[in-house]
Order: sequence, then C-alpha cells, then structure tokens
Amino acid sequence: MKKISTDITNDFCPQTLFLYGTYKEDHTPNFGLFCWFSYYWDTELGVMACIGGNKLTKERIHATKVFSANLVTEEMLPLADYFGNKEGYELNKMDFPLETTKGAVLDVPVLSCSPVTFELEVDKFIPMDDGEVLLCKIRNVLIEESLKDESATIEERIRKIAPINTTCETYFSWSGKKLGAWGEPKENFPFKK
Ligand SMILES: Cc1cc2nc3c(=O)[nH]c(=O)nc-3n(C[C@H](O)[C@H](O)[C@H](O)COP(=O)(O)O)c2cc1C
Repeated sequence: MKKISTDITNDFCPQTLFLYGTYKEDHTPNFGLFCWFSYYWDTELGVMACIGGNKLTKERIHATKVFSANLVTEEMLPLADYFGNKEGYELNKMDFPLETTKGAVLDVPVLSCSPVTFELEVDKFIPMDDGEVLLCKIRNVLIEESLKDESATIEERIRKIAPINTTCETYFSWSGKKLGAWGEPKENFPFKK
C-alpha cells in the first residue's frame, strides 16, 4: 500500500456520536453532541471523553461530576446535529418537547429515543491548554430491550438501531451512505431556532 504524508487529521477514521446529557442548575436537561469518546481499561471498563473550549456541558459536568452519554442513531440525526450546532448558553436551546427520564443509578437525564445510554461519573479531570480529558467510571448502562434478544444476530440487532458513523465532517449511515455534512441535518429538525 503506497502512503503519502498529509496534514494532522483523523479523516477516514470513523467515530460514533453521543449526546451528553447534564442537568442545568434548575434541574432541566441540556444535551450537546460529542465524538471524542472512547473506552479504557483500568480493572474495569471506563469511558474517556474530551471536551474542547468552554461550553455549558463542560460547566455542568464540573458542577455535578456526572453526565449521560446517549448513542446517536440515524433516526436521531436531525436532533443530534441541532444539539451539536446550538450552544447551551443560548437560553432557548432546549425549548421544545423532548422525552427524557432520569438515570437508573445517577442523577442524569436519559434521552428516551436513544437505544444505548451510559451513566457516567467523572473519576479524573485532566485539564490541558484548551481542551479537557475526562476519565469516567461507567456506573450503569441502559440498553433497549430488543438488543438483549439473542434470537436475533448481532448484525441484525445493530442494523436495527443503525448508529451514525462520522468522519471528514460528514455523517454516514450504518450501511455507509452519506447523510449530510455537519450542520446540514439540523435543517430537518422541526424545532430548530
Ligand atoms: C458532529 C459533531 C461532533 C462534536 N464533537 C465534539 C467533541 O467531541 N468535543 C467537543 O468539545 N465538542 C464537540 N462538538 C461541539 C459541541 O456539540 C457544541 O459545542 C455544542 O454546542 C455543545 O453543547 P452545549 O453548548 O449545550 O454544551 C461536536 C459538534 C458536532 C457537530
């Protein structure tokens, strides 16, 4: 395979997407969209996340030490893209009907439309020059019941929930079809402000 050097980039390295849920001071939910999310091992499975700059999600995680991470699926894409392109500091971000529940273990908002939700407690904050890395303990995992149905294959089960993949600032379906550039699907979100 012939390779050439290129700019520092993670293009062509697909990532999954999560909506991080936090409670604001008045205990109403806020959600933001995040892709710098992965896992680590330290006697148990943990989650590592990076948040850049100042944003409401980061401020609320500092205040509460807990948040939820809700897997983004094709069905959720317009909503997720809206959450990734509208700052929580804009007061009307969450002014539309959205079904959420409280975590089963932690006091975090859980997005009803997402089939997989992690309830996370930050173990270590690692501040850097601009971004911050969070190492988190997974206190609970909530998954849609049918994902536990072993009469269906793993391929069938994941195809049914259809998580989004993203790379090159573009969203892709689970089957690899382009679903729009970052910032495009929110145009189909009925409550976009
Ligand atoms: C596809 C996509 C992925 C994103 N991933 C991250 C990320 O991993 N880390 C980050 O700090 N911001 C990320 N953002 C930006 C945040 O979603 C954005 O700052 C949003 O306003 C955060 O919500 P908040 O303002 O309510 O906290 C991403 C945005 C998009 C569109």
